[in-house]
Amino acid sequence: MPDPDRPDGLDIERPEALVRYLRAAKRIAADERLEIRVLAGGVSNRTVWVRRAGGEAWVLKQALAKLRVQADWFSDPARIHREAEGLRWLERLAPAGTITPLVFEDPAAHLLAMAAVPKPHENWKTMLLAGRVENAHVDAFAGLLATVQRRAHERERDVRAAFGDRSFFESLRLEPYYTYAAQQVPEAADFLHALIEATRKRTYTLVHGDYSPKNVLVRGPNLVLLDHEVIHFGDGAFDLGFALTHFLSKAHHLPAHRGAFVRAAGRFWTNYRNAVEGLPFAGTIEPAAVRHTLGCLLARVAGRSPLEYLAADERDRQRRAVVNLMRNKPPDIATLAQRFAADL
Ligand SMILES: Nc1ncnc2c1ncn2[C@@H]1O[C@H](COP(=O)(O)OP(=O)(O)O)[C@@H](O)[C@H]1O
Ligand SMILES: [Mg+2]
Repeated sequence: MPDPDRPDGLDIERPEALVRYLRAAKRIAADERLEIRVLAGGVSNRTVWVRRAGGEAWVLKQALAKLRVQADWFSDPARIHREAEGLRWLERLAPAGTITPLVFEDPAAHLLAMAAVPKPHENWKTMLLAGRVENAHVDAFAGLLATVQRRAHERERDVRAAFGDRSFFESLRLEPYYTYAAQQVPEAADFLHALIEATRKRTYTLVHGDYSPKNVLVRGPNLVLLDHEVIHFGDGAFDLGFALTHFLSKAHHLPAHRGAFVRAAGRFWTNYRNAVEGLPFAGTIEPAAVRHTLGCLLARVAGRSPLEYLAADERDRQRRAVVNLMRNKPPDIATLAQRFAADL
């Protein structure tokens, strides 16, 4: 039985334990009453929404050692510190209003508190799965990524020093996505191992590592980006492939909206490319983005963290389509999107 008074035994999803903790840590007044709601959706953290007596709202996030997925998957909860560092930096690097300010960090309890995104807001993944694809959101998503990469490049020395450690990217992305998928799909093993090696060598900008619609809240016309625990200095093409995989997997899953999602993928890429034009890596990023898109499209049906909305027959079909594309690699993102949709 965990002891709620010891930080390492604290479970923030238990409201009485959370209140006791916040009082003991003097984050709230001794007699302050809180409104508390456990948030669903995350797999690697506990997330709890808290409203203080004065109306200020926080989201507390506590890293789990064992992730909530079917396969056994562990990760050092010290990664919450990386996320706090990500929040501090991204507030300066990302477009105004797209990052939630950090309120405090408690490394011993593996938790942080950030400003809650005010309501009303919607999760972008939920909107997309309902077929609500809007150009303004796609454009903002591309612009956000390009802005972070541009500014990170401008401050390369400092950003590299702050985010040079890539152990969480190795344990939360390269191993469970690419290495595990290579074991499951022998036809793709050579492609994936070459991709892993190339990714380790390409380090030129800040990589979010979880650049997914699931981690975006839409508030009116604006996007807010969440979930920065895999952030590192590395291969920026990973974020492109990771994001494009979400558009293309939804193109697969929602035949009635297939055209809209294929167009969204192309639009995301074009907007991004125009916004990074002139940067030293802009000329070479597309082939790497093609490879990461193929790698992630496969990883999300054959890795440790498959997309939950794809049924078994859809996973099989996506796997076949991607293996074909790996054999005969598309030269660019537009061709990849077209051929993937046509192959399904
Ligand atoms: N600052 C915030 N304001 C409002 N909701 C949030 C905030 N942070 C997280 N959430 C909600 O909690 C969910 C899980 O948070 P996230 O940071 O993505 O954790 P995980 O790493 O477990 O995926 C998000 O999808 C979102 O719905
Ligand atoms: Mg998340």
